[in-house]
Amino acid sequence: MRAEAAASLETGSPPVPTHVAIIMDGNGRWATKNGVSRSKGHRKGADAVKEAIHGAIDNGVSYLTLYAFSSENWNRPPDEVRDLMGLLRMYLKREIRTLSKEGVKLQVIGRRDTLSEDIQDLIKHAETETRHNTRLTLLVALSYGAREEIAEACKAIASRVAEGSLNVADISERTVEEALYTASIPHPDLIIRTSGEKRLSNFLMWQAAYAEFSFLPVLWPDFTRQSFSDAVIDFQTRDRRYGARP
Ligand code: FPP
Repeated sequence: MRAEAAASLETGSPPVPTHVAIIMDGNGRWATKNGVSRSKGHRKGADAVKEAIHGAIDNGVSYLTLYAFSSENWNRPPDEVRDLMGLLRMYLKREIRTLSKEGVKLQVIGRRDTLSEDIQDLIKHAETETRHNTRLTLLVALSYGAREEIAEACKAIASRVAEGSLNVADISERTVEEALYTASIPHPDLIIRTSGEKRLSNFLMWQAAYAEFSFLPVLWPDFTRQSFSDAVIDFQTRDRRYGARP
């Protein structure tokens, strides 16, 4: 039985998702709707990140993953990529102390080697500063793509076979699991996507196998901790059977 289901049986309270992952979408449309630059839309989007973190803490969620920059986002115009990297830099410099005070442990998943060196250093620093926190683990997906994650896992497994430390017959789901960026992180129970789009967009493809989905019409900069709570309430109405029958 899953941790969240076991806990709710014991307490009689509705299950709280252990891990919520969010595809933060709609910054550009919010900017157009409000007659401001895309850059401003992304800045407002960064403010909404705080709402999501508070929503997770309010609801007793243990893991929150935010899709902040995909492998494909590198194909956006250079000015926009620069803006997004600037926001990330600012976030990592200014928010880490607050996150730490709130008991948040930060971890980055994705191809961090493709980020500029100063950002890689800021990430390392943030991960070290927050490593002992236990209230919420915040995974930020940066330069992340699920296909790339799975291909990287295949490469790592093939290397172990080639060097003779792993037999082909011993490769299992667990072997793959342990080779992913999210090794040791429970799979997301709930994936939220804002802006009304209904796609996974190369996000946590392996890990999403039994996730519940919540597609919200709200544009990401308008997302609030209440939006988070509403999605959790909706999650609590779902009947999760993992392919089995009672
Ligand atoms: C999607 O909106 C959002 C992104 C590509 C980036 C998400 C980034 C943030 C929320 C801000 C920075 C985050 C951190 C962690 C500091 P879009 O531009 O695709 O919107 P559109 O589909 O309406 O054009």
